[in-house]
Amino acid sequence: MIPVNEPVIGVRDQEYVLECLQSGWVSSAGKFIETFESTWAQYCGRQHGVTTSSGTSALQTSLACLDLKPGDEVIIPTFTIISCALAVIYNGGTPILVDADPETWCMNVDQIKDRITKRTRAIMAVHIYGHPVDMDPLLQIAEQNDLAVIEDAAEAHGAEYLSGQNEQEQKWVRCGSMGTMSIFSFYANKLVTSGEGGMIVTNDSYLASKARNIRNLCFEPEQRFLHNDLGHNFRMTNMQAALGLAQAERIQETVNWKRQMGQRYTEHLSDIKALQLPIERYWSRQVYWMYGILLDKSHDMNANELADKLSDLGIQTRPFFLGMHAQPALQNLGLFQNEDYPVADHLSSNGLYLPSGLALTELQLEQVCDALHKLLT
Ligand SMILES: Cc1ncc(COP(=O)(O)O)c(C=O)c1O
Repeated sequence: MIPVNEPVIGVRDQEYVLECLQSGWVSSAGKFIETFESTWAQYCGRQHGVTTSSGTSALQTSLACLDLKPGDEVIIPTFTIISCALAVIYNGGTPILVDADPETWCMNVDQIKDRITKRTRAIMAVHIYGHPVDMDPLLQIAEQNDLAVIEDAAEAHGAEYLSGQNEQEQKWVRCGSMGTMSIFSFYANKLVTSGEGGMIVTNDSYLASKARNIRNLCFEPEQRFLHNDLGHNFRMTNMQAALGLAQAERIQETVNWKRQMGQRYTEHLSDIKALQLPIERYWSRQVYWMYGILLDKSHDMNANELADKLSDLGIQTRPFFLGMHAQPALQNLGLFQNEDYPVADHLSSNGLYLPSGLALTELQLEQVCDALHKLLT
């Protein structure tokens, strides 16, 4: 079976983790935590990095920093992982949805303005499958309405966005450099992995220290075991940070391979009429975190059927996200009643992603493409 994702664990990764084991620094104190935080923050062009136990807890911590009041609203894409909605809900807020862009599959930025009310506090921009959200207009709306921007770059390590498109000075900036607070996941299928793990990066010293405190049970610095606020244990271990650091040290090589992999898939598959492939807008250098394909509506097969047929040929795939508006757990809270998100529904029914892990070989990639030609042409 060609796995949908297989990470690459190098010699340096093993040496760093072994150093933790041999020195006994195995929990959340130890030199790798701070080095990983500063290395990754610097890579993203940010002043502060705060490691967490996962991308989900990084989102939760970021939202906790905003001190939402019940009924405060945060605008999020419907086409995303449930971690985004949970972070809002667990912090007492209400998620408000926008549909997906039919080509980038990221949030449709044109729909944001209409969703703003007096209760809106933040916009969560989620870069989907490695392609950036169109951030210039989003940041402008946020500034005009005095809203925080939580940037979810869990799937977009090393992706870049051409900022200032309508201005004289344009510049390429990394995903993770644009939010009030920006978050990453380092789960095993991400470009940089720490096994499980996450990080918040920001330039705001106050928010960074607040996030540090929340992730560590809100211990009062002056008196340990005294708590003036409610926190979480969302700490990363030194062993996870050791693995993450070794991986972060070779990020450029990883980004290059991922971009090459995405381009190869596109070259091999672009003659299949039944498929819509990932795009790269002129303002984007995407990283094809997962190479997604979308079956044309007119095709008589849906994504599940195609996944079964690929599986029979020894190829593992994963379905696209199911929109937040279609999640029973969220509908049961009375959310998103009678709301319609046709683009997200189309993506969920007809999309799947192909083997895209760092250990994928050129030969395997060609086998996947041959199988798709066999099934779809
Ligand atoms: C866009 C996005 N945000 C957040 C997360 C949550 O990250 P984690 O799995 O590390 O909790 C993921 C996970 O894949 C994700 O894809």
